Amino acid sequence: MDELLDRREMLKRSALLTGGLCLCRPTDSISATQSTCCHTPDIDSTSFFIQQDTLFIDLQREKILNKQGNAVFVSIPEQEIEMIVIHSNNNEYFALERFCTHGRQVVSFNKKRNIVQCNGYNHSIFDLSGNVIKGPAPRALRSFRVVFKENRLEILLAGG
Ligand code: FES
Repeated sequence: MDELLDRREMLKRSALLTGGLCLCRPTDSISATQSTCCHTPDIDSTSFFIQQDTLFIDLQREKILNKQGNAVFVSIPEQEIEMIVIHSNNNEYFALERFCTHGRQVVSFNKKRNIVQCNGYNHSIFDLSGNVIKGPAPRALRSFRVVFKENRLEILLAGG
């Protein structure tokens, strides 16, 4: 009978068995360089640098983030930076911590709904400022101030 199941149905069933798996993207396209509701690509490593508590992102190099309705992860563990940077459907930029405040699963930008959602089974939902729309997340995602200047983002790492 399993041979008759299509791929999506098999994923659904395995998600139930494993306790959760986002089904909004077929797993065989996970390496695609666009963000979807449960997949966020890593930032182009040549597109950013950090100087004095500010993360600078060159949007001419960072082609994914340059397009509206996309997001990228910025992960620099040695500097304790774990962030999702979003270019919203409304042409605004946001930077949030990338781990859900419920169980530390990563969050992703859901372009269709213009929200941030946890990739974990419970799917907590946050607005683009990081506020909780739907739990079980107990508190907001940390939010970082973003300034857009001449095709460049400046994200203030202190405060937030
Ligand atoms: S870890 Fe996000 S809802 Fe549980």
